[in-house]
Formats: sequence, structure tokens, C-alpha cells
Amino acid sequence: MDFIDNQHKYLINLINRIHLAIEQLDTREIVETLLDMNAYAEVHFTEEEELMRRYGYPGLEAHIQLHQGFIRQAEIFLNELEAAPLAITSEVSRYLMEWLVKHIQKADFQYGRFIEEQAD
Ligand SMILES: [Fe+2]
Repeated sequence: MDFIDNQHKYLINLINRIHLAIEQLDTREIVETLLDMNAYAEVHFTEEEELMRRYGYPGLEAHIQLHQGFIRQAEIFLNELEAAPLAITSEVSRYLMEWLVKHIQKADFQYGRFIEEQAD
């Protein structure tokens, strides 16, 4: 599923931009990129969930919970950023990146394999 891979790459790219903005203490860029990332993640997650639904993936509900957890955490970061712009550290971008990479390697890999089996 190339389009999913491309969306993952784009998300990773956005998180790298957040990381750079944090290092440069560029509050405006951090907020804008976090908002972009959240909006894009929602679109991407919805597409993944539709794909899983279409193929009757049994792990759909659990996967939706994972996606919602990520969106919630990104919103918490945004709120913290509004409250204390300079308190944001690269822990934030590290968290986002680690979550995403782990999610791709485990949860996304699992549903991808399921769909491939159905398609055979
Ligand atoms: Fe996913």
C-alpha cells in the first residue's frame, strides 16, 4: 500500500520539522507544524481505518483507540505549548517520533499483513 507508506513519510517529515522548530525555540513554527501534523494525522488515520473496515480487520476497534490516543497526546502538547511556550523540549518530538515509528512497525504492520492475506 504505497499511499499509506507515503503518508507515513509525510508524517515523519512533519515531526522532524517540529523537532527542528523546538531546537530553534521557534514557538510559532512549533504550533503551526503541530497543528498541521494533527490535521494530517487525522486524515491519515481515517484512511487507514476505512481500509481496515473494508477488509473486515478484527483489530479495528483497538487500532482506533491507538490513533485516538495519539491525537489526544498531540492536543495535550498544544495546550502545554500555549500555557508555557518555552517549556517545550525535544522530549515532545521524540515522543511523537517514537510513537509513530513503533506504531508503524507493530500495529500498522499487523493490519497490513491481514489485508495482504485477504487480497491473495
Ligand atoms: Fe495506524
